[in-house]
Amino acid sequence: MSIPEIDLTVYPDECDAFGHLNQASFLSLFERARWEMLARGPGMDVFTRAGAWPAVRKTTIDYHAAAFPGDVLRFHQALVHHGRTSFTMRQTARRVQDDALIATAEFVFVCIGRDGRPMPVPAEVGGFMNARAAADPAVRRVTVNGVGLAVEERGEGRAVLFIHGYPFDHTVWRHQLERLPGVRRIAPDLRGMGLSDAPDLGYSMRTYADDLAALLDTLGVEDVVLVGLSLGGYVAFEFLRHWRERVRGLVLVDTRAEADNADGRRARDATAALARDGGAKAIADAMLPKLLSSATERDAPKVVAQVRAMIERTPVAGIVGALAAMRDRPDSTPLLGTLGAVPTVVIVGEDDEITPAPGARAMADAIPHARLVTIPGAGHVTPLEQPDVLIGTLAAFLESLER
Ligand code: MLT
Repeated sequence: MSIPEIDLTVYPDECDAFGHLNQASFLSLFERARWEMLARGPGMDVFTRAGAWPAVRKTTIDYHAAAFPGDVLRFHQALVHHGRTSFTMRQTARRVQDDALIATAEFVFVCIGRDGRPMPVPAEVGGFMNARAAADPAVRRVTVNGVGLAVEERGEGRAVLFIHGYPFDHTVWRHQLERLPGVRRIAPDLRGMGLSDAPDLGYSMRTYADDLAALLDTLGVEDVVLVGLSLGGYVAFEFLRHWRERVRGLVLVDTRAEADNADGRRARDATAALARDGGAKAIADAMLPKLLSSATERDAPKVVAQVRAMIERTPVAGIVGALAAMRDRPDSTPLLGTLGAVPTVVIVGEDDEITPAPGARAMADAIPHARLVTIPGAGHVTPLEQPDVLIGTLAAFLESLER
């Protein structure tokens, strides 16, 4: 079961003198969408049955575009934080006709009992709203470093931590999670992405790395092989700066060690503005032409659709946060020469336009004993574009660690 989207029509009595949907009416439309969502799931009386009332503690609404009488708005609801007595929902309203992003909102609720005291979020509500995670038994939520992270875990043996890129989630590793044999595969959604919490502030490479170290502690994992895709590579470098003794091997996929230059930093801010104005869809539209190889675009429409869907479901707060973290990340090139004791393989899609092959070669040359593997037919999303070649490369690398 997934959280249903709700279509609601804008009526004239909800509009102001200029004929725009009035800002105050948004509150009741978002509320109606939530009740309608419950009606189609566990029932509108789910809170009454549990004796818990969801009191709104905080509301934030961003108004993106005008809507008019007769417009049909599609409301998408997602649970972005699930605490013991509180939960946060992010909702978006898009106009069905042209898919324009009309408004995004975040509501923080505290569950209050009949005696006026906070009480646990009813299990039925949490279960329903966590439906996407719950649908896959290999995915669970853990709270570490102050955020709820979703993490998929499969297999047993040496621990391998898969760190996804921007603005993706752990499903970019779906094939490697399913089919890489003989190791414990751990793939979290970084904060702000996938099914993990998406706080408004607090994103940096250090925070991402702290989250992952805390996650490994929670899972009882001491040593790990890091596999980082693009942003995931930047996070891996940060992890190495602080917990090198925990790293048994390093796989850098479609990534780079340099920091952003001044133009790159300005571009991050412009992209953040695009995300705030146009939502994740605008980011998908802007990124997709550069992400995939021409072979993938031509021959693999399912992969193109997967990548688009993955980007479009990323919360705007997570996109903006990741852009700030990438803009401010340190230069990791001084680290490369010091990694001689960490077995490393650098992997790059031959057609990667974002972190092109010559840069990957330079990075591999700078890391003592590192190997470079160039994968034909892949762009910047090698795990989905050439999954089997990547599985073979990873399996050979992991086997070499045992020798
Ligand atoms: C990624 O795939 O993680 C990003 O493209 C990295 C970046 O923008 O620097």
